[in-house]
Amino acid sequence: MNEMANEGILVLDFGGQYNQLIARRVREDHVYCEVHPSTMPLSEIERMAPKGIILTGGPNSVYKADSATCDPKLFSLGIPVLGICYGSQLMAHLLGGTVKTAPTSEYGKTVVSLVPAASGSKLFQGVDAETVCWMSHTDYIEQAPEGFVVTAETPVCPVAAMENAERKLYATQFHPEVMHTAQGKRMLKNFVYDVCGCKGDWRMGDFIARTVEKLRAKIGSGRALCALSGGVDSSVAAVLLSKAIGKQLTCVFVDHGLLRKDEGDQVESVFGEGGSYDLQFVRVNAKDRFYAKLKGVTEPERKRKIIGEEFIRVFEEEAKKIGAVDYLVQGTIYPDVIESGLGNSATIKSHHNVGGLPDYVDFKEIVEPLRLLFKDEVREVGRELGLPDYLVNRQPFPGPGLGIRIIGEVTEEKVKIVQEADAIYREEVAKAGADKNLGQYFAALTNMRSVGVMGDGRTYDYAIALRAVMTSDFMTAESAQLPWAVLQKTTSRIVNEVKGVNRVLYDCTGKPPATIEFE
Ligand code: XMP
Repeated sequence: MNEMANEGILVLDFGGQYNQLIARRVREDHVYCEVHPSTMPLSEIERMAPKGIILTGGPNSVYKADSATCDPKLFSLGIPVLGICYGSQLMAHLLGGTVKTAPTSEYGKTVVSLVPAASGSKLFQGVDAETVCWMSHTDYIEQAPEGFVVTAETPVCPVAAMENAERKLYATQFHPEVMHTAQGKRMLKNFVYDVCGCKGDWRMGDFIARTVEKLRAKIGSGRALCALSGGVDSSVAAVLLSKAIGKQLTCVFVDHGLLRKDEGDQVESVFGEGGSYDLQFVRVNAKDRFYAKLKGVTEPERKRKIIGEEFIRVFEEEAKKIGAVDYLVQGTIYPDVIESGLGNSATIKSHHNVGGLPDYVDFKEIVEPLRLLFKDEVREVGRELGLPDYLVNRQPFPGPGLGIRIIGEVTEEKVKIVQEADAIYREEVAKAGADKNLGQYFAALTNMRSVGVMGDGRTYDYAIALRAVMTSDFMTAESAQLPWAVLQKTTSRIVNEVKGVNRVLYDCTGKPPATIEFE
């Protein structure tokens, strides 16, 4: 596939929501995988010589004139192909089958039945005859192309899966890559190992070696500035870069006054002079300029854009001081990219280091070595790089910091309130050992004030919201059932110790429909 991987799978992206998830599932099976646009020329695909190709889902209809397509010769290269959702319809359409608007659309968990013809199917080895799969389609394959056998169906979908084993062409209308497809992992593994013949000799260490090589080739003897927040992603990016270019890298940590309690000093003690790493580290205390820019601003996207822009301006200034810095390194990871609505997906919120970037950035290039990885993959890279556990397992903290955990206008007083409440909450959760299964937990400041009674007097103060979620990839999350005793203790400490708060609420919402952060 390339100089760093003996074998690999190519995912051709037709614009679906789960495309990187396919790549991640393949990598979980220790097979290298890259996602490329569906427009990748056939000659390049041949040069890459993947062991298999996966065509993703997408929002189009194959029979519409301007829909995304691929060269039909793709199916005659002798390389196994798995079409998923739109990819399956495209395969059917280009090879002579029929695709139409389905009389009944299917969304969500659906029981799919394997037909007797599936008994010898390599794709469905070890899969139950009736299995729950995730469907999301308005079109369907009405008639499979000649030479194909139908291998699965649902009451309303006559071709839930089809294959031409001789030509190594496979297709599923459902999404094997999502967790809700109960045996989807098994199906993808079957495709990668049994159909494509992969051996599974790829490890995260290969990603590191490959990335370090690429970074060296790109940056050469130039200089780079890494935007270091002390969180998992930017810490991993910083250590990866320092492995690649050593002292040509300067890590700049901006204390924007929106960090958690004492966090600025903690980050400095790890990465600064006398810390654990041999890095050039600069701390910029920029609280006042961030607060000034945020004054009077209440709209969440505006806040994100302002913070994102101000970060860049600080980095540009620091780069000028260092001199001849061409590259800005950021620890952007895949969920940041997808939620910022790049590519064909809808914008959920502009993650400050992606969609929150100003139009003009005074660096030659932005380097984002973790851009295609999910959070848990980044943690694995961190472990491989030898980062300490407490850093690798640190819960995520968003770039815009407390700015998006304070609903409405950000003021110094509100920052102080949320910092104190959050510190108490984290302390109590950790003390009770209730943090083991939590992906993220924090306090946010609602913009709601309500009436209370303290001592013998009336109060009219803010409500703090506590949030705790369980998640592995941060794309979806469930609200955690924290022990009541922990919530009670936290509540009583917050209202007693934090001035300006007289009420504490617990957020029971999952993602979707909420997001993890409040803004
Ligand atoms: P949401 O709130 O979108 O968050 O469900 C998903 C994950 O991303 C983190 N997050 C961010 N991280 N810049 C970041 O670096 C951002 O602008 C940003 N917004 C959200 C969030 O903390 C959660 O882990």
